[in-house]
Amino acid sequence: MGLNNILEIKNIISGYGTTNVINNISFGINESSILAISGRNGVGKSTLLKTIIGIVESKSGNIFFMNKNITKNRPTERSILGIGYVPQGRDIFNSLTVEENISLPAISRRMKNLKNELEKIYSVFPILKEKRNDLGGSLSGGQQQQLAIARSLIFNPKVLLLDEPSEGIQPSIVSSIAEKIHNIAIELKTAFVIVEQNISFISKLSCDCFIIDKGVISSKISSKDFSDVDKARKALSLEL
Ligand SMILES: Nc1ncnc2c1ncn2[C@@H]1O[C@H](COP(=O)(O)OP(=O)(O)OP(=O)(O)O)[C@@H](O)[C@H]1O
Ligand SMILES: [Mg+2]
Repeated sequence: MGLNNILEIKNIISGYGTTNVINNISFGINESSILAISGRNGVGKSTLLKTIIGIVESKSGNIFFMNKNITKNRPTERSILGIGYVPQGRDIFNSLTVEENISLPAISRRMKNLKNELEKIYSVFPILKEKRNDLGGSLSGGQQQQLAIARSLIFNPKVLLLDEPSEGIQPSIVSSIAEKIHNIAIELKTAFVIVEQNISFISKLSCDCFIIDKGVISSKISSKDFSDVDKARKALSLEL
């Protein structure tokens, strides 16, 4: 196991019933770093993130987080240890306010320093402070994605798993979301594993990207291949 890896996935096999969707995947990620994962629809990108957070059980292999084997831990235990997860579709509560959406997980765990944590989050997402009393359902797609990320930051995760953060977001907002992710990685030292199919978003993350196909990592595209979006599109479409 790489000593610097905060999260290490080793030979993971997982799926539903007798069907394997993830067929032996291994990778590691360092503190504060960003990794993108892409691939065609239905190849198992969401299943991989669900396996890391523990919603889907690993059939074999191991998951290490901060050198602790968490393969058998429940999802809530993993989140308490420091793995955050924003599902595909975001799961914002439309009829709760922005601040209630952010606070809810903290209140249910009786967090003491909630006010300070809220201020820290609002300093990363000033728009959410401005809209703290608005209903979640009234926000734009981009603001809802910021809210979903903000909510998952309340327990100071060391790794944040994001499933298709650019889905349903206007192209003009995509780069500002990428910028927020960079800020969080640097300022809060959070690492990110980001499942994404939007090439221009991946290029703005300027990180390495693994392509999943047939349940395995079929190729790795380095960040420098994304410096030119057209080149990246070509590289990805060869794989997708
Ligand atoms: N709860 C479930 N029960 C049974 N099969 C499932 C379940 N969830 C997903 N699958 C199947 O597992 C495979 C991988 O699905 P998954 O959602 O992980 O793919 P994905 O790469 O995230 O797709 P997309 O790009 O559409 O988000 C698909 O064949 C899907 O039908
Ligand atoms: Mg998915």
